[in-house]
Amino acid sequence: MKPGKKIITLDEFTIEQTRLFSKATGGLSTLLRDIGLASKVINEKVNKAGLVDIIGAQGTENVQGEQQMKLDVYADDIMIRVLKTSVDCAGIASEENDDFIAYEDEYSCNAKYVVLFDPLDGSSNIDVNASIGTIFSIYRRVSPVGTPVVEADFLQSGRKLMAAGYVIYGSSTMMVYGTKLGVNGFTLDSSIGEFCLSHKDMQVPKDGKIYSVNQGNTAKYEQGLKDYLTYCMEDNEDKKALTHRYIGSMVADMHRTLIKGGIFFYPADRNNATGKLRLQYECNPMAFLAEMAGGKSSDGEKSILDIEPTELHQRVPVFIGSENMMDKALSFIS
Ligand code: AHG
Ligand code: MN
Ligand code: MN
Repeated sequence: MKPGKKIITLDEFTIEQTRLFSKATGGLSTLLRDIGLASKVINEKVNKAGLVDIIGAQGTENVQGEQQMKLDVYADDIMIRVLKTSVDCAGIASEENDDFIAYEDEYSCNAKYVVLFDPLDGSSNIDVNASIGTIFSIYRRVSPVGTPVVEADFLQSGRKLMAAGYVIYGSSTMMVYGTKLGVNGFTLDSSIGEFCLSHKDMQVPKDGKIYSVNQGNTAKYEQGLKDYLTYCMEDNEDKKALTHRYIGSMVADMHRTLIKGGIFFYPADRNNATGKLRLQYECNPMAFLAEMAGGKSSDGEKSILDIEPTELHQRVPVFIGSENMMDKALSFIS
């Protein structure tokens, strides 16, 4: 940071945005602060992931006598507990749990928002020290305030999102969140324990040079998709061969796509008619961020944000990225 440049914390930024709306009550800022707090706790644990075997060497208990938990179960537990004490969260749904949870105390019943999350995305990368993350979505509930939340509160389309974002535990820890006002990134300054504005008004470049997909699945793709991959790999009249990058953590692959441009996709294939990634916990929040930053999303036919969810753990084919690259990909597969 340049000397004399003012640091803007996540809190200061969200409160500033709240002031733009005369009717806003600040609930969204409180929720983002709470999610930020949970992610700082998760971040600490993620940083110690390699030490778990050493600390808990002789069995399943660590030095404090606590049971060792898998990191994704731990992250889930932290998110659920922090949001339960939040005055603005009426209930949650998580990729890790079969059903949603309604917080039934008086404060929670009077809260206006529900939060959906993938507590730890990219869990297969924990062992190899590659970037992982937490993905979240915030909706205004549709059930009456003053009552416990119901399933319909969690089955809203991405168009109805109030905010969505992720925290990436990478070479630095960052929160990126978006609303209809735009997308902004905050880097955790561990010396003060605050997320500070580092990536203002993020925009997905209109074009990119990187395609991101598990290309090992190619044999199972339909012909249009195979043709698109061939197009990506070859020099053409409109471009040189593209670069392939695939980390296998959606958070990390999407973070790169938002910053550098490109296309990320996890399509349907012969074995998985609806693809792998989950609409409510992964696809909608990432599609929302991309679209609010000028990019595009699709399930192959329409924007991810226009899908009406029918079940909590629904999977959908997903394509997200730079506008021009998305148009090209869709011309092959539609
Ligand atoms: P999760 O760790 O939450 O289960 O998500 C893993 C997801 C996503 O992060 C990534 O894009 C995808 O799985 C990778 O799947 P493949 O290994 O099949 O490529
Ligand atoms: Mn995930
Ligand atoms: Mn997960």
